[in-house]
Amino acid sequence: MSEMSTEAPTRQEVVKEEKKFMIESYGCQMNFSDSEIVASIMQDKGYAITKDEDDADVIFLNTCSIREKAEQTVRNRLVHLRTNKASKKKLKIGVLGCMAERLKSKLLDEEKLVDMVVGPDAYRDIPNLLDEVEGGQKAVNVLLSREETYADINPVRINQDGVTAFVSIMRGCDNMCSFCVVPFTRGRERSRDPKTIVKECQDLFAQGYKEVTLLGQNVDSYRWNLTSKGEVKNTDEPTVNFAQLLEMVALVDQDLRVRFSTSHPKDMTDEVLHTMAKYENICKYIHLPVQSGNTEILKKMNRGYTREWYLQRIAAIKEIMPTCAISTDIITGFCSETEAQHQDTLSLMQQVEYDFAYMFFYSERPKTLAERKYEDDVPLDVKKKRLQEVIALQSKHGLKSNERAVGKTFKVLIEGYSKRSDQHFYGRNSQNAVVIFEKAKGLQKGDYVQVKVTSCTSATLMGELV
Ligand code: SAH
Ligand code: SF4
Ligand code: F3S
Repeated sequence: MSEMSTEAPTRQEVVKEEKKFMIESYGCQMNFSDSEIVASIMQDKGYAITKDEDDADVIFLNTCSIREKAEQTVRNRLVHLRTNKASKKKLKIGVLGCMAERLKSKLLDEEKLVDMVVGPDAYRDIPNLLDEVEGGQKAVNVLLSREETYADINPVRINQDGVTAFVSIMRGCDNMCSFCVVPFTRGRERSRDPKTIVKECQDLFAQGYKEVTLLGQNVDSYRWNLTSKGEVKNTDEPTVNFAQLLEMVALVDQDLRVRFSTSHPKDMTDEVLHTMAKYENICKYIHLPVQSGNTEILKKMNRGYTREWYLQRIAAIKEIMPTCAISTDIITGFCSETEAQHQDTLSLMQQVEYDFAYMFFYSERPKTLAERKYEDDVPLDVKKKRLQEVIALQSKHGLKSNERAVGKTFKVLIEGYSKRSDQHFYGRNSQNAVVIFEKAKGLQKGDYVQVKVTSCTSATLMGELV
């Protein structure tokens, strides 16, 4: 479509009318999913999406507060954008997400970098807030809600590969782990209507998507039409727990892969594991954050389980699904953690041999239980040294896990071309391992193929089509 007839309006005339917005997401998958809700709301407001910051009239940063470093990254980005703004007076900058919720109007006052602050439950208000900003005001809405799930909003898939998509099934978190800022930034836990979840997955499949990842901070406490005590709210409507929801989504089509994140060790039931085992298209991969291998530290973290309980959950996974991959999150140097307690984390890792892990050193967050109750007394160099030990052990286990895959054949969903070479496809197996293999005629992304793994690094499996 490069040629234009002379009758057509020139490109300049068309573009002049159209306002554009850009959105950048930081933090967890939840934020990336929320950005797609915001994109939908902005398109309804008449804005087109752009990936070019120089081209944008409005720039949104959808932010994360989980660790201090996450917030620093956003601050640096805001300073960069403001520098840009000096030469472009009309550019409006909005902070969305968890930092918006945590810092509220402080973001406007202290930093003077921002025109708009919108918390995670207030995205429907963005059109009004934009009008206020256009009128020369600063705009803030950080109200949290007990009901908002954006169930009726059709997300606009940004960065889409057209193959995999996130589907949010719940919002907020009621767990109050003592280190964690999420309950303060995301509010109370609430589940989304299962009918709208299934409908969204059906629509995605009809559009050619082949994989959905169901998202929530604690998917195991998904419940529809049930109170937290397990009582039925409305007797005319069915109740749905997470295992049942998984099954409903798995039944959309056997060619639609289902993943989910995050499971919580205290709530993950055998019913969920049996449902996973029953359906081939529910991926054999569980992200089960342990945080620490020491029961006393877990208690201080308010995680609601002991080391033994956690190991028993791991045993249940391995028994019910012997091929299931397991990943985790680990925090080193939490308040008062001793060397011996740190060793417990390492020994638990030895026992489980995780396929993959996200590892962090503890970062104290304002307002959390730990900030109010415990001293952040492990010196930074000790936190970092322990983290290095955890990372070193995990990279051994990660490599081992990949080496075990060599020689085996897996069903792989092609997600696109390999970053390194357009002669190679990139995809994942059910266990969430990345597999690279040579392109072949007639194949395209979105196809399922059988790939035999021939070699590996600690990060990737290399293979050939069979
Ligand atoms: N809902 C998920 C975790 C969400 S946050 C769960 O319950 O497991 C993702 C990870 O960030 C956490 O699992 C934890 O390992 C890490 N994290 C959270 N708060 C942190 C903090 N204050 N310092 C360091 N890491 C933290
Ligand atoms: Fe944070 Fe715990 Fe909730 Fe996860 S379960 S989001 S770590 S409070
Ligand atoms: Fe960060 Fe908020 Fe997610 S704090 S990890 S973006 S829920």
